[in-house]
Amino acid sequence: MQRFDVIVIGAGAAGMMCAATAGARGRSVLLLDHAVKLAEKIRISGGGRCNFTNSGARADCYLSENPHFCRSALSQYTPQDFLALMARHGVAWHEKKLGQLFCDDSSEQVIALLDAECSAAGVDRRMGVEVGEVARGEDGLFTVATSEGGFAAGSLVVATGGLSIPQIGATPFGYRLAEQFGLEVTPLAPALVPLTFHADDAERFAPLAGVSLDAEVSCGKASFRESLLFTHKGLSGPAILQISSYWQPGDALTVDLLPGVDVEALLAGNAGSAQRLANLLGEYWPKRFADAWLAQQQMDWKVSEVTGRRVQKFSDAVHHWRVLPNGTQGYRKAEVTRGGVSTRALSSKTMEARGVPGLFFVGEVVDVTGHLGGYNFQWAWSSGFVAGKNC
Ligand code: FDA
Repeated sequence: MQRFDVIVIGAGAAGMMCAATAGARGRSVLLLDHAVKLAEKIRISGGGRCNFTNSGARADCYLSENPHFCRSALSQYTPQDFLALMARHGVAWHEKKLGQLFCDDSSEQVIALLDAECSAAGVDRRMGVEVGEVARGEDGLFTVATSEGGFAAGSLVVATGGLSIPQIGATPFGYRLAEQFGLEVTPLAPALVPLTFHADDAERFAPLAGVSLDAEVSCGKASFRESLLFTHKGLSGPAILQISSYWQPGDALTVDLLPGVDVEALLAGNAGSAQRLANLLGEYWPKRFADAWLAQQQMDWKVSEVTGRRVQKFSDAVHHWRVLPNGTQGYRKAEVTRGGVSTRALSSKTMEARGVPGLFFVGEVVDVTGHLGGYNFQWAWSSGFVAGKNC
């Protein structure tokens, strides 16, 4: 049985940050992962350029049973701290939009940076290792059985991520381990995920696959204005991915197809015009969408025909288009998992489990889910860092 101060399971974003931070404190750290390659999710993120943080990361950009839980970690390790780390390693970046920061060149640079930090901190990193049974002895030491033999440590950090993209190594390991130690796991669901239509809608909207437009999509109290994309199966695009984190089966979405446009004033300004509505709206919408959507709404009118009650009816239809998805595209297409190890079971200052000294959970395995736009990596850095300071 080989002894370490700290064993970190999961060499992804949060696990590498935690291992490097603990190692830099002089702790002997073993970092284990069953995947052969380091941090595959960083590699594929942000279209290969890794949207590694969001300069506006704050608690209200995260979903959790306890929306305040993430505050402490986010304040202990901020986006500026990660930017300072990037600068130390000479990695160039740019803002794309809405505070979303991406590497200029490649997400591989973020992996190399974290790997270099781990090496400098003397972390013993082992990839391709199957992790088996975990136990805690009466002496408080955690033992971990693996395909490379047994290891023991006083601190065990679980950084095994969520369930999305099982094809690159996602497993429910972290959730099962939490349950083994009596910690609650909140309900799990795919999030930041495309939504699917019922069969009849799928058929009706099939000709629109590939069309995208600016829209404001709402579900309950949550609302996002970004682009919406029609797919062969349903809806996607940033506005839909964002709202999917709030969507529950059975919920309808309300879509404002002309956000910020006063439809009644637009019609009044063109009163009496013989042109078709599809032409008038062609200024705002892709023509293919205008034709198909108006036909489906049975509103394929001339502008001059939109008078009286029709004005309100048309305005309502445009600003409050109701869509009833029948599901999501699931973990194979989801960016993240909503839910996870309950925040009630953990200290927000250290990420240590209440009642199980030495056991820590960091990153996506915890019930903290960020909006689209770099928030999830920031949570991985922040939670990994605070655990690394305390494990
Ligand atoms: P992460 O999933 O990174 O790491 C978990 C590690 O644990 C993996 O290396 C895995 O192999 C290992 N593991 C799992 N089970 C194990 C077991 N049983 N035994 C041993 N090891 C095990 N976020 C963002 O902020 N900006 C972005 O641009 C993107 N883009 C993006 C694109 C795509 C396609 C996806 C799927 C996701 C994103 N994300 C994102 C989300 C982001 O990737 C995610 O939130 C973080 O990677 C979570 O970091 P963790 O370290 O918690 O888990």
